[in-house]
Amino acid sequence: MRVVRTAAELDSAVPEGRRAVVMTMGALHAGHLALVKQAHEVAERVVVTIFVNPLQFTDPRDLERYPRALEADCALLATEPVEAVFAPEVEDVYPGGEPIVTVSAGRIGEIFEGAHRPGHFDGVLTVVLKLLNLTRPDVALFGQKDAQQLIAVRAMVRDLNLPVEIVAVPTVRDPDGLALSSRNRFLSPRERERALSLSGALRACAARAEAGDSLDGILAAGYAILASAEGVVLDYLAVLDPTSAEAVRSDYRGDVVIAVAARVGSTRLIDNVPASIGGDRS
Ligand code: PAJ
Repeated sequence: MRVVRTAAELDSAVPEGRRAVVMTMGALHAGHLALVKQAHEVAERVVVTIFVNPLQFTDPRDLERYPRALEADCALLATEPVEAVFAPEVEDVYPGGEPIVTVSAGRIGEIFEGAHRPGHFDGVLTVVLKLLNLTRPDVALFGQKDAQQLIAVRAMVRDLNLPVEIVAVPTVRDPDGLALSSRNRFLSPRERERALSLSGALRACAARAEAGDSLDGILAAGYAILASAEGVVLDYLAVLDPTSAEAVRSDYRGDVVIAVAARVGSTRLIDNVPASIGGDRS
């Protein structure tokens, strides 16, 4: 496994063959590794990118605080047949400083996670497009954990006719249900306990959806659990259209993503589950 900084180095490090890329910001955990493992299933050559993208941070303190652990990340990736780790510096990705031309996530960038973090999804899509151009994969894998990001990436690929296949990987959770996230390290043991209300609420919503309940019934089941969780400040609980990230109307039928965002202490967590309203999930 080679660790490279430039696209030219990457070219010589990765042999011919169907190429998959897994994009990350490092501080890797078992969730990221699930993407890498899945990448081996769908391609011959696997490239992992590690780049903390300044453009997607709305709060400069978050960017500063973001965990950086390139050595530990590479040690973890060395256990997988990864061809190369592409770990450019900010100057390599943005040689002219802030880019003049960027990608707009449109409406997806303004709702739910986008409303909370203005400009975030524009920053994500801009770097995803740049990393696609720099690494030229046949297939790119993204986690269902960041459902709105996945929706935005799929929309960009469709709307801009990008020649890449997008594969979604289910969320990896701890045995008690907590979705793995680099932010979980900020939770105290008591906060971690309280954070289980997020996945608990989603499970309750999914069970109501499965039972054929109405949109209101589905949401009520989740709200009940979140309301009784001490120290959990809900941002939103919503049932989303999986192609637009818009909240679905009460007459909607089909696949949905049930999404939640809440603050537990000073840590903001997001989680979601796929479900279906009024029929089987396709
Ligand atoms: P990062 O937060 O490092 O996540 C990298 C990839 O890992 C994303 O596709 C994310 O959805 C996936 N992931 C994170 N936690 C997961 C879990 N518990 N289960 C399954 N997949 C999980 O997302 C980003 O980085 C950035 O926005 C990026 C796309 C790299 C652009 O900068």
